[in-house]
Amino acid sequence: MKFNAVRLFSEGNRRVSRVVEQSVDDLDPGEVVIRAQFAAVNYKDARAVSGAGNVIKRFPCIPGIEVSGVVAASASPDYREGDRVTVQGGQEFGIRHDGAFSEVVRVPAAWVARIPPGFDAYDVVALGIGAYTSAVAVEELVRRGVTPDQGPVAITGATGGCSSFAIDMLSGLGYTVVASTGKSGETAYLKSIGAHEVIGRDAIATSDKPLDEQRWAGAIDAVGGKPLSDLLRTMKKRGVVCAFGNAAGEAFTSSIYPFILRSVSLAGINANHPVARRETGWMRMAKGGDLRPRHLDRICFEIPFAGLKDYCEDVIAGGIRGRAVVRFG
Ligand SMILES: NC(=O)c1ccc[n+]([C@@H]2O[C@H](COP(=O)([O-])OP(=O)(O)OC[C@H]3O[C@@H](n4cnc5c(N)ncnc54)[C@H](OP(=O)(O)O)[C@@H]3O)[C@@H](O)[C@H]2O)c1
Repeated sequence: MKFNAVRLFSEGNRRVSRVVEQSVDDLDPGEVVIRAQFAAVNYKDARAVSGAGNVIKRFPCIPGIEVSGVVAASASPDYREGDRVTVQGGQEFGIRHDGAFSEVVRVPAAWVARIPPGFDAYDVVALGIGAYTSAVAVEELVRRGVTPDQGPVAITGATGGCSSFAIDMLSGLGYTVVASTGKSGETAYLKSIGAHEVIGRDAIATSDKPLDEQRWAGAIDAVGGKPLSDLLRTMKKRGVVCAFGNAAGEAFTSSIYPFILRSVSLAGINANHPVARRETGWMRMAKGGDLRPRHLDRICFEIPFAGLKDYCEDVIAGGIRGRAVVRFG
């Protein structure tokens, strides 16, 4: 059986991805072979496919960290041909082991999960790591005592996949959400998914002071860099920032004052949980769950496998909104 995959090659000091024809024996080993139906495109995947980042750790390798599909063959007693399954995240898949951007995927059985009740092959990756990460951040804000009556919650990188879900979830829970974006033309989209107010990327703070006007009871930061620095300076007393991303940069600056004068907390979010630990989050995002995004159809959209490489270039150029899902033919 021959099929297509996107492989990233290291050539001199360049990383180049190409569509290549493969057979199952070309893929890294594993007990379960899956005929892919859908794969999500995360920021990390876009960096990998476009060669823009240091995501892939072994060459050549097929990028893509989330896939859903049907088991085509299994040497594991846990899965049978025809089972509807998904593979999401981890330290290897789409990083050191051939990943999701392939019409056929082969992985160890331990990485495979059955598609949970309340999901289908599309929405299990449409929501996927993007919505799961937002759900973990939202849970952390709530756990640390941020309530809707304390004031607005700011969300950076607002038009991105994770942040779009966070806007949807928090507004659904009754919070007043202020969306910060670099795209002035996306106000209508952001309001349509639950933002109460939309501000520019540079409008989080109003001055350069180490402590600026107290504006936000909570914040979800998908970008790091200067927007995260600005959030820390503008949090209300006992405000909580949940940070999970680096699209604006890995480094940020802060004085000690937000922490020692306003008791601001900075919570790091790593949502790369083992599949077994994700059950509660998945239940809350299943149809009828309290964190089920109400605007999934506005946030997510399909792209053909043939359009993946061009789409990834657009992500890196910062020109996208929402979350793309690759449909395999
Ligand atoms: N910690 C974890 O467990 C975890 C899990 C999943 C994702 N992540 C991280 O979360 C971040 C978002 O992921 P995603 O898949 O939602 O990405 P995405 O859909 O590509 O969205 C990223 C958004 O960041 C903003 N952005 C892009 N370039 C920027 C720049 N140079 N300066 C400031 N803002 C910029 C843009 O929003 P605007 O134009 O609206 O500002 C963009 O839409 C990524 O850094 C990803 O690696 C972390």
